[in-house]
Amino acid sequence: MEFSELIQKRYSVRAYTSKPVEQDKLNKILEAAILAPTAANRQPFRLIVIKTEGRQAELKRIYGRDWFVQAPFVVCACAVKAESWVRKDGKNYAEVDAAIAFTHLILAAHDLGLGTCWIAAFDPAAARDILKLPAELDPVAFTPLGYPADEWKTKKRRPSSELIQHI
Ligand SMILES: Cc1cc2nc3c(=O)[nH]c(=O)nc-3n(C[C@H](O)[C@H](O)[C@H](O)COP(=O)(O)O)c2cc1C
Repeated sequence: MEFSELIQKRYSVRAYTSKPVEQDKLNKILEAAILAPTAANRQPFRLIVIKTEGRQAELKRIYGRDWFVQAPFVVCACAVKAESWVRKDGKNYAEVDAAIAFTHLILAAHDLGLGTCWIAAFDPAAARDILKLPAELDPVAFTPLGYPADEWKTKKRRPSSELIQHI
């Protein structure tokens, strides 16, 4: 897909089919995340790929919407602050790096016909408990990963004059 079409047509998918995700597509999507740029190339993130089958009720403790567990997979991006580049003023870039990797994942998924929806409004305590996350992993985002069962909607965005400054 052309990049301009990819970014125009990608949308937050909030209904999924249970159609299996092909292993080669999953591999390509995860590889796209690994190829993301990170500060000083530290790659301070982990991606946890969770099979939803048989775990739907448990996973809904993380994020309670039905569509969260409809797809074959849920992916969690974690930041690892102890591994990341830190600016002189103390700003830690682990979450920025994890977000860039997750964006690569989301765009690659769309390119292969799969849907995603970035989720920040999850319950971090439930996520830690269910995924048995060690203390050094900080969950920053979740997404279902599967074939969409809804349709693209017109994008609503603020006018560029509010978002872009030329100085
Ligand atoms: C950091 C971040 C957090 C988000 N958290 C949620 C969420 O918790 N639940 C949800 O349904 N959508 C969530 N979204 C999706 C946004 O609502 C969506 O990206 C935005 O409305 C634009 O729509 P589009 O993705 O279809 O272009 C999140 C998106 C981002 C980037």
